[in-house]
Amino acid sequence: MIKIAPSILAADFGRLGAEVTCAQEAGADLIHVDVMDGRFVPNITMGPAVVEAVANAATIPLDVHLMIVEPDRFLRRFADSGADSISVHIEACTHLHRVLGQIKEVGCRAGVALNPHTPASALQEVIDDVDIINVMTVNPGFGGQSFITGMTRKLRTLRAMVAGRDVEIEVDGGINAETIASAMSAGATIAIAGTCIFQHEKGIAAGIADLRRAAELAIANDES
Ligand code: DX5
Ligand code: ZN
Repeated sequence: MIKIAPSILAADFGRLGAEVTCAQEAGADLIHVDVMDGRFVPNITMGPAVVEAVANAATIPLDVHLMIVEPDRFLRRFADSGADSISVHIEACTHLHRVLGQIKEVGCRAGVALNPHTPASALQEVIDDVDIINVMTVNPGFGGQSFITGMTRKLRTLRAMVAGRDVEIEVDGGINAETIASAMSAGATIAIAGTCIFQHEKGIAAGIADLRRAAELAIANDES
């Protein structure tokens, strides 16, 4: 079954701890934290202090997505703040192989995120060094955007590339009860979702339940 990672970007920051606890109690598998610096992406969000606050509210793993330039400068800070996995953008790393090693040195699982224009083949020479691949299905920077359907082809290519390896494939951006099925069928193992969980009209638990239901239906359809 696919893991569900609520992205707190869409949460009510005024009651962040309570929202994180609610997502955890509703069955979230991990919490996704979107860090933006206003340089790699045209938006600024949160830093290590917020990761620490989330870590204090949750016992499930924290998946930190760094949409920042020079991510190597901040790995230790995020690890010390409670990150369990850290993903850096391949487009932000001149020395990706080195950075992946540095993420592991600070005690985290090493992730790489790919912008929509970056091909799966860009990971070929580091495929044995990654624990997580984040396939961006929107251009990073903002929540609430639409899923880019063409990314399912990249997901399929990556699923074949990681066959037999212990690598998670995340899908990030525009995931909802309609789009989760194609992402899963194409090989995603972790669905990251912000808007459809934290802005769900019936609340966070209903948002997670809707996603799970859609995912279960997709599995049943794939098997039939
Ligand atoms: C986008 C972020 C995503 C985003 C997902 O730059 O990486 O994690 O918060 O939000 P939704 O689910 O609203 O697309
Ligand atoms: Zn993200």
